[in-house]
Amino acid sequence: MPVISFANPKGGAGKTTSALLLSGELAARGASVAIIDADPERWISQWAALPGKPDKITIIGNVTEDTITDLIEEASSQHQFVIIDCEGTASLMVANAIGMSDFVIIPTQGASMDAKGASKTIKLIRNQARMARREIPFAVLLTRVSAAVTSRSLKNVREQLDQAGIDVFAVSIVERAAYRDLLDFGGLLSTLDPKQVSNIDKAIQNSMEFAAEVISRLTKIGQQGRAA
Ligand SMILES: Nc1ncnc2c1ncn2[C@@H]1O[C@H](COP(=O)(O)OP(=O)(O)OP(=O)(O)O)[C@@H](O)[C@H]1O
Ligand SMILES: [Mg+2]
Repeated sequence: MPVISFANPKGGAGKTTSALLLSGELAARGASVAIIDADPERWISQWAALPGKPDKITIIGNVTEDTITDLIEEASSQHQFVIIDCEGTASLMVANAIGMSDFVIIPTQGASMDAKGASKTIKLIRNQARMARREIPFAVLLTRVSAAVTSRSLKNVREQLDQAGIDVFAVSIVERAAYRDLLDFGGLLSTLDPKQVSNIDKAIQNSMEFAAEVISRLTKIGQQGRAA
């Protein structure tokens, strides 16, 4: 079953947040999801220790560069989706995760456009693909985008990526307090308390649109794989 990695060596790019949003949406639709917490900082494991983790989500922690390949293989035989939250550095563990992935999502902060982090990841993906003699599809996901008007810098970022022939998600992850609170309070967006957190409905809408785009991309990747 599809293995999806979230990778960008830049810290704070939104890997953990977007991995968690996707996992939550998939689980809410009834899918069984394994999240491989491939970050020694253990953000996902800490989230899972808070109340509210859905039963449909299984966390696989204590991952090392030696064990990650086996753990991904095992998880993909047991779950409908395997989501890998990579650490914020370039490492053998990240390379191994990418080498095992059906799709790599590169969260990149829209406003500051960490072009270096994204391009490092793209190089790594292309190298892993050459070694494995297969395509490893990937796309950049712009994150922490302002909820207000589309800024000019964001438009520039999209244009630059387009010109470089890099696939970018149509959906961006908006900067929302609800996303920050998810890691602090645990559970899913739908279980956050609207008295404590503003704009939960908008956060849910954004996260559903993101998950829908991931699913449609996976469907396309699957069709291309079968046609090849
Ligand atoms: N869309 C968002 N809206 C609000 N806060 C966000 C959003 N995305 C990320 N953050 C916050 O920014 C911080 C970094 O995000 P996150 O942990 O997802 O990044 P990361 O790429 O996983 O970082 P690291 O490389 O350290 O693992 C966190 O405190 C998170 O709550
Ligand atoms: Mg992280």
